[in-house]
Amino acid sequence: METKKINAAITAVGMYVPEKILDNKYFESIVDTSDEWILTRTGIRERRMMENGATSDMATKACEDLFKTTNVKPEEIDAIILATVTPDMMFPSSACLVQKNIGAVNAWGFDLIAACSGFLFALQTGSSFIESGRYKKVLVIGSDKMTSITDYTDRNTCVLFGDGSAAVLLEPTTDTSYGIIDSILHIDGSGKDALNMKAGGSLNPASHETVDKRWHYIYQDGKAVFKVAVKGMADVSYEMMQKHNLKGEDIAYLIPHQANLRIIDATAERMGITKDKVTINIDKYGNTTTATIPLCLTEYYREGKIKKGDNLIIAAFGAGYTWGSLYLRWSLD
Ligand code: ACO
Repeated sequence: METKKINAAITAVGMYVPEKILDNKYFESIVDTSDEWILTRTGIRERRMMENGATSDMATKACEDLFKTTNVKPEEIDAIILATVTPDMMFPSSACLVQKNIGAVNAWGFDLIAACSGFLFALQTGSSFIESGRYKKVLVIGSDKMTSITDYTDRNTCVLFGDGSAAVLLEPTTDTSYGIIDSILHIDGSGKDALNMKAGGSLNPASHETVDKRWHYIYQDGKAVFKVAVKGMADVSYEMMQKHNLKGEDIAYLIPHQANLRIIDATAERMGITKDKVTINIDKYGNTTTATIPLCLTEYYREGKIKKGDNLIIAAFGAGYTWGSLYLRWSLD
């Protein structure tokens, strides 16, 4: 690999999850399911629901939480990259709304759509901005109000998703043994029919028909996605380990996207990583799409589990298909 003069390092983290909890018992009361089915098939016990407010409101709260922990001021932020599949509106971007809310008066930015791989792709994008030398402070946010596109009459999907948001600050480090070291990222549009939200875009603009067909909600062929997700996430994470000569014991934590505990377990097994070295929050929050990974990073760091110098592998798989892995060495004390 070519030598870089600058790496991007995560220098602050922040998060927000709404207070309202939907537990598995609640789903037993609205669809034909059981706590036992949900827990054994997915690993989810409960998830959160944002009652008042949208994706940008959660992202704003996550950024405010982040700014409490750093000397960096909102006006010093150069760019905001907000990964989401549930923007407040099709336009303007939710990044614009967050920019105004937090007072990042000197920032530019945009929303990035890559479904459950959104935060991973945004982290690599932000990292490249820093490595270019042109930007010094980049906010990367994963924020999704999945309950706004969840069909609560469809037991196949409604039990899976929840709301949440988390953010990281990227800054340059000249010690290139720290920070974001490498990523392997993929997209494959042949997955479009297995996982999508069909209406509301230019293909199927909103109409009575699209509403009647429930096309403004998440559609997923779970079984089809499961197979490719297991292979995609495990293969790309293993490839990253081989590329950098890493063994299971060299890795402090695998930080996987949280769609299904069985997909996570299969990835860890392929990498030779024991279960205690895998970050998990799916039991508490379900699949928060772009927020699962930064929520894990924030919580495990704040609990003192992720430490300076730790080798971390982030892995994700999502609609598109989109997938990848990213290798970083944690630089925060
Ligand atoms: N309660 C009870 N039974 C259910 C439920 C439920 N909530 N949901 C489905 N079932 C039933 C099905 O109807 C099916 O019944 P049938 O055999 O009579 O038809 C049976 O359970 C088995 O269904 P499967 O789809 O085979 O269940 P599976 O074990 O595959 O689990 C799940 C389903 C959890 C969705 C799984 O397939 C999965 O996790 N898929 C991948 C998810 C993923 O990684 N998505 C990508 C990221 S998300 C994003 O990008 C937005």
